[in-house]
This record gives sequence, C-alpha cells and structure tokens, in this order.
Amino acid sequence: MIQEQLNNLVKDVTKEWKIDIGEVIISNRPDLCDYQWDGCFKLAKILHKNPLEIGNEIVEKIKNHQEYQNLLKKVEFVKPGFINLTLSNQIINDCLKEMNAKDKFGLTPLKKEELYFLDYGGPNIAKPLHVGHLRPAIIGESLKRILNYRGYKTISDVHLGDYGLQIGQVIYGLLEENIKIEDITLNILEDMYPKISKRCKDNKEVLEKCSAITKELQDGNDLYQKYFQKIKEISLKDIKRIYKNLDVDFDLWNGESDAYIDIPRLKSILKPYSKISEGATIIPVKNDLDKKEMPPLLLEKSNGAYLYATTDLASILKREEVKPNYILYVVDARQSLYFEQVFRVAKLGHLTDAKLEHIGFGTMNGTDGKPFKTRNGDMLKLDDLIIKTKETFLSLKEDNNNMNEDDINKIVDSIIKYADLQNNRERDYIFDLEKFSSVVGKTGPYILYTYLRIKKILDKENFTFSISDQIYDEHDRNLRLELLKFQSVIDKAVITRMPSYIADYVYQICVYLNIFYQNNRIEGLNDLNKKQDWLSILSLAIKIVKQLLDLLVIQIPTKM
Ligand code: ARG
Repeated sequence: MIQEQLNNLVKDVTKEWKIDIGEVIISNRPDLCDYQWDGCFKLAKILHKNPLEIGNEIVEKIKNHQEYQNLLKKVEFVKPGFINLTLSNQIINDCLKEMNAKDKFGLTPLKKEELYFLDYGGPNIAKPLHVGHLRPAIIGESLKRILNYRGYKTISDVHLGDYGLQIGQVIYGLLEENIKIEDITLNILEDMYPKISKRCKDNKEVLEKCSAITKELQDGNDLYQKYFQKIKEISLKDIKRIYKNLDVDFDLWNGESDAYIDIPRLKSILKPYSKISEGATIIPVKNDLDKKEMPPLLLEKSNGAYLYATTDLASILKREEVKPNYILYVVDARQSLYFEQVFRVAKLGHLTDAKLEHIGFGTMNGTDGKPFKTRNGDMLKLDDLIIKTKETFLSLKEDNNNMNEDDINKIVDSIIKYADLQNNRERDYIFDLEKFSSVVGKTGPYILYTYLRIKKILDKENFTFSISDQIYDEHDRNLRLELLKFQSVIDKAVITRMPSYIADYVYQICVYLNIFYQNNRIEGLNDLNKKQDWLSILSLAIKIVKQLLDLLVIQIPTKM
C-alpha cells in the first residue's frame, strides 16, 4: 500500500531522532500535493529547533533517499510545518497494477484475527416492521460485510424481541375474540397488536391482564406457549421475507426468549452486586466519575418478571461460548444510557472478555423533520416505504417501459440504502424521497448509473488489463489517485464502524469517473496505447465500485 511506503520513507529519514513522528496522511489540499506529513512541528518542538529548519533538512534527506526517484515526483516543505508529497506516475501505476492483480485489491493481511459478534435488526414479533427497523438492519448488515471483507470473522444475531408485553397483548386479544391457534393469520396479528395496545393505554385493568399473561408465558404456561409458538412462526416468516428483500441475513435467529434458559445462572453470578428495592432486584452501576444521571439497572420486577436488560445480559453469557473479541449492538442511539448500564453490569459480573460497543444511530425523519408517521400517527410500515419509493422513482423517470421488475426493485433498494448509509450514522437524517430518487446528486441511482455507463463502454471493447507508465491528463490522474485510497477507506470504516466512509468513497470515485468520461472520449481513439491504458483504469475502477456497493448491501441492476 502506498501510504505504508510513504510512511516507511519518512520514518527512515527521521529515524536518527528516535521520536514517534506520526503518520503520512492523504492530502487536505489535493491542489498542492497527494499526501502530506505534518510531523515537523512536533519534531521541532522536541528538538528545540525551528520547523522550517527541520522541514528543509527532511526534504533534503528525502531527496537523497534511494526510494525517492521511485516514489515521488516532488517533495517540498510548506509553512508553517508541512511536508507535501507528490507521487510519481510510476508508483501510481505500479500500485494500480498490484491492486488489479491481487485478491481484495491488495488489502494487507490483518495483524490479528478477531471475532466480531454483531447484534442488529432487533425486530419485534407480532408487530409489523416499520421504518424504524430499517436502519439497524442495513447499518448492521453493512458493518458485517465490511468487517468480513477486512478479514475478521463475524457472527450475526437478529436478537428478536419475542418475549415482551406485546406477546401478552396479542394472546389476550386472540383469547378474547375466541380465535383458535390454527386460525391465526398474519393479518389478524397485524390488526391485533395496535388494537390491544391502544386499549391498554386507556384501561389499566386490561394492561394488568396482559402483563400477567406475559409473565405466565415466560414461566412456561402451556396454552400461552402454544399461542406464542404459532404467533412467532407466522410473524418470523414475514420478517424473513422482508429481510430477504433487503438482502439482509443472519447466522442466528435467536430471540429474547432463547436467553431465558441462562437467567438462573445470570442471577447467581450477579447476586453479589444485586440489591432488593421495593421487592425488585436492582444493580447499582453509578460511579464517582459520572456527571450524568446513572440509575441502577432493573434485573427483576417485584412480580418476578424479567426485563429487556435481563435478556440482554443473559444473552451475553450465551455469546461468550464462542469467545468473541467484540460484541457490537447496532441499536437506536436513544438507548445509549440503557447500554451503558448493561455494559457496566456485564463488566461487574465478568460475564465476558469481549469489548462491548453500542453502535448507535439517529432517526430517519420525513421532510418535515419529524419521524416518519402515517396519517393516523402510526409508524410507516417498511413495506409501504418501499412502495412509496418505487412510485416516486417511476414518476421521476421519463421512460421505464423497457425496464424489468427486478432491475426496478434493485434501484429502489439502492435509493433507500444509499440515502441511509451515506450519513454519519449517529445523526438524524431527512429522507427526502424525490432528492434521493434522482440520478443526479449524491444518490444510489447516480452511482448505479455511473457504473452501468462505464460498463457499457467496456463491454463493447476487447482488451486485457495492462497499463503503461503514462498518465495523460489531470482527470485521468485524479481518478487513478482516488483508487489508491481503497485500503485507507476500508480501514477507516472498520475503525470508526461507519459505513458512511465507504458511501462517500464510492461517490467520489463516481464523480471522478464522470468527469473523466466527459473529458476523455474513448470510442474512436486512435492512440491504441492510450486506449488500452484508459480501458484498464476504467475496468479497475468499476470493479472497485462494485465491491464497495456490495459492502453497502446494494445490488447492481442490468440496466437503467
Ligand atoms: N427489539 C428492540 C427494539 O425494538 C431492539 C433490540 C436491540 N438489540 C438488543 N440486544 N437490545 O427496540
């Protein structure tokens, strides 16, 4: 990787000082140089010299280094303390050849093999999936793919919400309406939950009955268990259908209910840290450094019922069996206090050696800046969002007569996913359907369109990859240079757990591809060497685009 080579060069010329001088980074001023090194300040301070003096000394040393000719076209010191590095054409092309020849574009092997356990999706049985379930599914799926691609092992678990009050509510409703187990359908379930949940809000007695059913279910009541199994079966089938359409998949389809078996063990491990408060079992987690409110974690209610936290903690015991190095929870940022409590209890009880991380995300809002709701105030169903997006996309497109359904679905999918993944995940964002459905701007369709346009040119030509040591113009150079950033972008996405770095990168490559294409016509070029070089670069570029799209869980249609 080029960045590593530049790092080694700078380390080599500064080694006599035996000081950690920091890394070479991608230039902040691409108009001035390709890479930069900002260590002169630090060095000057420690050596009690002036940065200019140190800087010039280093520039001289670099120029006299045996690698200089090979790596760099230019090196210069700029005030107040930067060393600007401009790559030679030779090295740019050597790196591109290597990227093309090697598996995963030459990604360097991992220093350490590690296992990531990913908890994402988190849908709830017996409630329809709504837009709020979109983000945990696609951010989680994308992160899993990125980690896998980087070489880590992963295990993914959907962690179904399948043992909460909503099940008690639905069972209550079914029994009240005398609906037999074999007659339960998805439609019945979808109507039942909102109906009973509303009644619980208005009527305390109904709520208490539903809670009691939930508790008895958890304790193993036979009839309720039978209802539960059927409800879960029907609901899960629908959840799997929706995830399949989104191309989101899991190794494990465990739920909260599967964690119950480990609760007795959990309770005994946590006993030394537990307290009884008004009949309930709590675990204090506050420490002296806390500035914000840090309430105790509620492990067991006074009626003996377990909570969301109890099953999350019990699940950690189960997950520890595979000895993960990390457990990542891709869950709404509004649960951050909750996860802080759970993580503290997990550490108190030494439930796992894994690093526990809450990968929080913000809300997807409508153009009014408020969370997506239907007219009657319910959350918009995921299915309906997809239908709405499809309608908008088709209405914007002038002619779609010759498009097949599968292609349209892939484009619609890219609209939703790219709109989401391009954001810093921690922030809320506005899902502006019209804007994200357009083929211009930073959108899924723009990227797909660019890919297909270049692919079409390549498909017409007969060539094999080979590049000379030439670079022909600035558009050409910008594109080539951008491709070299591949590894550093992947690494950044891994370290920050942010798919948005991948989304930004694929967009930037597409921008350079379009500029290149607008300025450099390939069809009919007489200079055959140039033509060969350009076709090769374009083919490498779209191979990379395709890979990046896969990391964003986006599939490519056959045409647009
Ligand atoms: N079912 C939960 C919800 O709808 C999300 C579950 C997230 N994962 C977890 N391990 N807590 O809010």
